[in-house]
Amino acid sequence: MSHKPDPNKNVNLIIDGKPVTVPEGTSILDAAKTVNINIPVLCDHPDLHERALCRICVVECDGRGKLIAACANDVWEGVNIVTINKRLVNIRRTIIEMILANHPYDCLKCAQNKNCELQSLAVKYGVVSSSFKNESGKHEAVIESETIVRDMDKCVKCARCVETCQEVQTIRAINTSNRSHEFEISTAYKQPLEDVSCVFCGQCAKVCPVSAICGNDQSADVWGALNKNCDAKAEGIKTIAQVSPAISSILETAFSLPAGSVTKGKLAALIRLLGFDKVYDASITANITNTGICSEVKQRKNNSGYSLPVISGCSQGVMRFIRNFYPDLESHISIGKNPRKLFASDIKNNYAKEAGLTSSDITSVSFVPCLAQKYAIMSDKKDFALTAEELAKMIRLAGIMIETLPEEQFDTCNLNLSNEQTDQSLIKKETVNGFAKARNAMESIQKNECSADWIELLSCPGSDCPCSNCS
Ligand code: SF4
Ligand code: SF4
Ligand code: FES
Repeated sequence: MSHKPDPNKNVNLIIDGKPVTVPEGTSILDAAKTVNINIPVLCDHPDLHERALCRICVVECDGRGKLIAACANDVWEGVNIVTINKRLVNIRRTIIEMILANHPYDCLKCAQNKNCELQSLAVKYGVVSSSFKNESGKHEAVIESETIVRDMDKCVKCARCVETCQEVQTIRAINTSNRSHEFEISTAYKQPLEDVSCVFCGQCAKVCPVSAICGNDQSADVWGALNKNCDAKAEGIKTIAQVSPAISSILETAFSLPAGSVTKGKLAALIRLLGFDKVYDASITANITNTGICSEVKQRKNNSGYSLPVISGCSQGVMRFIRNFYPDLESHISIGKNPRKLFASDIKNNYAKEAGLTSSDITSVSFVPCLAQKYAIMSDKKDFALTAEELAKMIRLAGIMIETLPEEQFDTCNLNLSNEQTDQSLIKKETVNGFAKARNAMESIQKNECSADWIELLSCPGSDCPCSNCS
C-alpha cells in the first residue's frame, strides 16, 4: 500500500548543498523553490497534475548519479539532491535538441515568439540548433475557428492541453493518441474542433507552452482597418472600439506595470492613440445584459410555459456545451443576443446615418480578456474581437508607453435600453466558473434541485476569471 504523505510532518534534505526542511509530500521541484532554485520544466504546470513526460527537470540524487524527475517525485528524509552540474546541463541540452528535431525553426514568424517556454529553455541552455535530423513538417497549421489555431508541428507533447480539456473542463474534445514517436494530440478521427464537443473556451491554448494551440491573431486585420480609416477620403467615424476594463490587469502583467496602473482613463487614451475614432467602455453592455435577463426572468416567472432558471453565458461556447451535453435544457438558454454585438450594430447604424455611410463602412472591434469572449463575438465573422494579448502586440508595434499616457474619458452614447426595470435584488443569480462546475449546475436543474432564477456560466474555471467582474 502506498504511503499517504502527512503534511504536518517535516522532511529534511539537502539541495545543491543547502539544508532544506519542507512538509512531507512536497515535490523536489517545490522544495528547490524554497531555497530560490528554479529547476527547468516543460510539461509541468502549476495548475495541473504532474505527467513527467518531458524529463527536462531531471536531477541527481544521493550522489549515485541516479536521475529522477523533480516534478514527479516527492522529497524524502535525508536525500541529497543535485539540480545543476555539467552532466545535467548536457542531458537537458540533449532533450531540448531532441524536441527541436520535431519542431519547425520558424520562431520569427511564430505567434509565441519571445513568449515560448521551449524557446526560453533553448536560449537558457545555449541550444541554437539540433544535432538530430529534423522530422518536422508532418502537420499543417489548421485554423480551427475565428479564435483557435492548431499547429501540431510545434507540439512538444506535454499533454497539458489534454488534462485541461479532459479533467479541468471535462469537455474531452482532445486526447492523446498512438505511442512512442507516433504519440500525438488529436480529436477523435482527427475531426475539426467545430465537429467535436469543443466549446472554444481557449483553456488549452492558455496552458500550451509553445504555440501548438494558440489564439487566432487578427491584430494585422485590425491594423488594416485602421490604415484604411486613415486613407479614407470620406469624413466620419470609421472605427469604433469597445473595451472591457478586465483587460487592464492582463496588460499590467504583459508590460510589467504595477497593479492598478492601467486605469480606465489610460485604456481610453491608448485605444484612441492606436487610431480608433470612438472608444467605449464595454461595461455598459453588462447593464444591457442584466436588464435584459432580469426582464426575461420576470416574463418567464409570469408564464408557466417557460423554463427557469434562465441560463446565460460569456460565450457561444457555453451554448454549444448545453446543446452538446444537456440538450434537454436548451429551453433554459436566454433568448438575449450578445450585448456587445447588439451595441456594435446600434452604434454602427447611428454613425453610418450621421456620416452618410453604410454600416459596413464602419469596423467595430471589441477588446476582450480571453479567447472564450472572442469566440462569442467572432462567431458570426462580422466584427472583430481582439484579446488582451493581441492588443499588447499592437501596443508594442505602435511603441505606446502606457505609463506616460494621459487619463482620458471614454466616449458616451445614448443606449436604446428598455425602460422596463426589474428589481434585481428579487432575482436569484448564480455565477458558475468553468464547465466542471457547470455540469453540477445543469444536473441540479435536471433534478429540480436548482433554486436560482438565473445561472450565468463563465468558461474560465478559475475564480480569477477576468470576466467575473466585467461581462
Ligand atoms: S478550447 Fe476548450 S473545449 Fe476546446 S479543445 Fe481547448 S480546452 Fe477543450
Ligand atoms: S498542443 Fe501544446 S499543450 Fe498540447 S501537448 Fe502539444 S505542446 Fe503541450
Ligand atoms: S517538467 Fe518534469 S518531466 Fe516534464
